[in-house]
Amino acid sequence: MQIKDSVFVITGGGRGLGLAMASSLAKDGARLALIDLNQEALDQAAAQCQEAGGEARGYVCNITDEAAVEATFAQIKEDFGEIHGLVNNAGLMRDGMLIKVKNGELVGKMGLDQFQSVVNVNMTGTFLCGREAAAIMALQGKGGVIVNISSVSRAGNMGQTNYSATKAAVATMVTSWAGELARHKIRVGGIAPGVIATEMTAQMKPEAIDRMVSAVPLRRLGEVEEMAHTLKYIVENDFFTGRIVEMDGGLRI
Ligand SMILES: NC(=O)c1ccc[n+]([C@@H]2O[C@H](COP(=O)([O-])OP(=O)(O)OC[C@H]3O[C@@H](n4cnc5c(N)ncnc54)[C@H](O)[C@@H]3O)[C@@H](O)[C@H]2O)c1
Repeated sequence: MQIKDSVFVITGGGRGLGLAMASSLAKDGARLALIDLNQEALDQAAAQCQEAGGEARGYVCNITDEAAVEATFAQIKEDFGEIHGLVNNAGLMRDGMLIKVKNGELVGKMGLDQFQSVVNVNMTGTFLCGREAAAIMALQGKGGVIVNISSVSRAGNMGQTNYSATKAAVATMVTSWAGELARHKIRVGGIAPGVIATEMTAQMKPEAIDRMVSAVPLRRLGEVEEMAHTLKYIVENDFFTGRIVEMDGGLRI
């Protein structure tokens, strides 16, 4: 797919990896609909994409809310005329151990809300946005591309029962959707990043970063530009579907 003049919806486009991928597509002349929770962040993100060279608009939408997602995708279709791509990127992390035992006593458990809030955003939100984008693209009849952002944690990771389960789920959606949607010429891919340097990692203690980096064969964090590069590869390669690109510097957890 050609990036120039194509319309991409990016969830969680207000900051972090979503904004970096949006800016990169904007540089190549894409038209962008950014979805996030906060109007101010969206305004800044849209301005950044416009500066990079692409048209961009922000849409406040909680992707866990079915009616809001339906209305937002309908609005994007009306505003831009067509939708050609979706990057299912919005995500939430609320880490914690399944149980905590101290001196033979149970002192903590992962709360149901802690579990379900992550499921709602990462899994249900990805499902809802993927469904709406697929419906619009299928009826347009011109194909399209959907990219789900999974994680190296999809293999299962201590302290991430909730997050890992959802990242495995969105990886399986790539395979299910690629099979179902190929008849509409809609390709579906995924990216499973390791640790990428973002505002979030910039706030972490240097010791914590060093510990993470020591587990990465390439001995560094990924760069947001490298995420954007991987997205570009999936978007532009018309024989790519049903697969996940691992973008983790060789990290295995
Ligand atoms: N940064 C990394 O190292 C890394 C590694 C592996 C996977 N990922 C995945 O990449 C994606 C982006 O990560 P990031 O580091 O940029 O995170 P981030 O927290 O900086 O950004 C996530 C964005 O999603 C938005 N969001 C959260 N819940 C939402 C909701 N209900 N509705 C709409 N928007 C919502 C947030 O407001 C935020 O702008 C996530 O799916 C994350 O799990 C990141």
